Amino acid sequence: MKKNIVHHVGLKLILTATTLLASASIRAQTTIPIATAKNAIVLQTDKENRLRTVYFGKALDNTADYAATANQYNFNDGNAAITNVAYTPAGTWNLLEPAIQVVHADGNRSLELKYVSHTVTTVDANTTLTAIVLKDPVYPFFVTLCYKVWKAENVIEQWTEIKHTEAKDVTLEKYASANLYFSNKDFYVTTFQGAYAREMQPAETKLLQGTRTIDSKLGTRAMLLQSPNFIVSFGKPASETEGMTMVGQLAWSGNFKLDFEIDSYKNLRLMAGINPYESAYALPPNEVFKTPSLVYALSNNGTGEASRGLHQWARKYRVLDGEGQRLTLLNNWEATYFDFDENKISGLFKDAKDLGVDMFLLDDGWFGNKYPRNGDKSGLGDWQENVKKLPNGLGYLVKKAGAEGIKFGIWIEPEMVNPKSELYEKHLDWVIRQPERPEVYFRNQLELDLSNPKVQDFVFSIVDNLFTKNPDLAFIKWDCNAVIYNAYSEYLHQKGLPQTELYVKYVHGLYNVLQRIRAKYPKVPMMLCSGGGGRGDYEMLKYFTEFWPSDDTDPIERIFMQWDYSYFFPAIVTDNHVTDWGKEPLKFRVDVACMGKLGFDIVAAKLSTTDKQFAKEAVATYNTYKDVVWHGDMYRLINPHENDISALMYVAGDKSKAIVFNYLVNNRQMITATERPVQLQGLDAQKHYSVKEINLYPDGHKSPIAEGSDYTGDFLMKVGINPHVTKNRTSVVLQIDEIK
Ligand code: GLA
Repeated sequence: MKKNIVHHVGLKLILTATTLLASASIRAQTTIPIATAKNAIVLQTDKENRLRTVYFGKALDNTADYAATANQYNFNDGNAAITNVAYTPAGTWNLLEPAIQVVHADGNRSLELKYVSHTVTTVDANTTLTAIVLKDPVYPFFVTLCYKVWKAENVIEQWTEIKHTEAKDVTLEKYASANLYFSNKDFYVTTFQGAYAREMQPAETKLLQGTRTIDSKLGTRAMLLQSPNFIVSFGKPASETEGMTMVGQLAWSGNFKLDFEIDSYKNLRLMAGINPYESAYALPPNEVFKTPSLVYALSNNGTGEASRGLHQWARKYRVLDGEGQRLTLLNNWEATYFDFDENKISGLFKDAKDLGVDMFLLDDGWFGNKYPRNGDKSGLGDWQENVKKLPNGLGYLVKKAGAEGIKFGIWIEPEMVNPKSELYEKHLDWVIRQPERPEVYFRNQLELDLSNPKVQDFVFSIVDNLFTKNPDLAFIKWDCNAVIYNAYSEYLHQKGLPQTELYVKYVHGLYNVLQRIRAKYPKVPMMLCSGGGGRGDYEMLKYFTEFWPSDDTDPIERIFMQWDYSYFFPAIVTDNHVTDWGKEPLKFRVDVACMGKLGFDIVAAKLSTTDKQFAKEAVATYNTYKDVVWHGDMYRLINPHENDISALMYVAGDKSKAIVFNYLVNNRQMITATERPVQLQGLDAQKHYSVKEINLYPDGHKSPIAEGSDYTGDFLMKVGINPHVTKNRTSVVLQIDEIK
């Protein structure tokens, strides 16, 4: 067991001559640096003992020097609102957007927060947790600001814990996770908007005075239209290799709100947390309300380095089995939709085996008897095998797949119910709906009320029954295809709890179910899906091994989308399937899907002989380099949003191997051949490498890339290598191997 070392530095004050000179009062200041290996946020108390953010920038060599950083800035202005407070309260001196807003047990709406103490806990050699206690001087109301720092990866996870010992409940009207403050000349923010099958569309903008808000009120599937992922670039627009950059995400699977506010000093306040919309929460005395985390990676060298830090952190510390293996698969969704039976499915096992993938995934449509799931209008909630389609049950299929030498996985959408279902007939009180109003459907379905512990038990039992009955079941695809309309919980009503707690308690209920699943089934891989990319965040990825970025599998679109997801997620968590979407040839589709976890969702039996041969060879080749894609470092080389081609590479940790993916993304003009070489990154300049083209389509076509070549890493990174992408070679994959 790791031993945690706690340094109590609460009342230990860091005094320097400068701080004393600068302060009118003799109150000593407390300085709290939150420092990664390369960057630091510095918090400091002022003469009123309020905690302020006084520095954000490069880390200093000497910790003691942080105490003097504030003196180089003139933040305070008697008449303008003071904005750099580390967690801004409402109802007293602050007249700007607060981080926290409460109604005390006695009905009073004012809050002040003063520094009390802080602790720095060493979690391991790379990780510290700083917890800073603030308190209202009048009410027994406490806020603890928590900052977990992973030094080497330059990653910070920040959240807030709220508690009180007042006589009755305190209503939390707003309770941000983070209230950050940055001083710089200009700020550029990239946010990601989308829609079904058009997820993660980036837009970068220079922030002007006022507030830019990104939020969701969709409840479940909260990221369908806006994503809680963002990039802040300091001083100039985001660049892949230069400049101070923050790549961040609010790790919360429900309604969120990100406010980027430029204040009157032209500084940036970033407020991130659960969306306060319809989310007032009655906190009983002595209970701790823990906000979700804002997770961010910092870099002084652009988005590339920040993403790699975040990826390393995600794999090592966050994602379930992040450093482990994944199962390649054949899915039947686009091959059959709802139209299948036992024979058709078991017939596909042979295709999976033939392709050389690890698993067959049975998608939607296998359940429901009174209301069979033969379309998306019925059956959700009735998780029993449909006896017509699967007369011998799932057990038979799991066994049959095993006999074919492949694993078997299954799709569920356990939080949902169709009004045409036995579950709806039996448990109307479990359904989120307004009792007096017409129901509003999204994909013909409604949510179950996960704030209700009985519903949590039910959802847990769906997964538990599947595994109890089929211990060899190897994989779960957990879908969530609807948003919450008519937000009303019969359970909260019965309990006399405010309806405004539904959005938060739903997500807490969901996490509770997932914790129970993981306590009993710690390892089994699970894919998070939400009608595409409606869900996918670092809280959910504690329980899931991967997620489905979008139903849009057109490979051209995927090049862009996977590029944009890659700012935040490592390739090992993004599931990419080869389907019939788009017009590109099979080779192109397979190459694009190889930039992540490869899967197929096609009728393999219908492939031409050469396509089939190519697919089989590509899977076999993928197995030889997937370790580099899944566990290596990613370098975005040529941005598809700005160029005719796109290129991206993965480099093994020891720099002995790399895979470079190159694509033509602009078909408008005739490109005879890529004019310029693609400069690689992340190699060892001193090492010698060979370059060979892989995934060649077996039509006799010879690669123009000479085999047996010998390049230094220095050459490949400075001059580069030309992939010879042309209209006839729209997709080129290069394997770079160290010559030993
Ligand atoms: C969603 C998913 C698809 C598929 C269908 C099944 O759209 O994103 O992959 O599972 O549901 O209904």
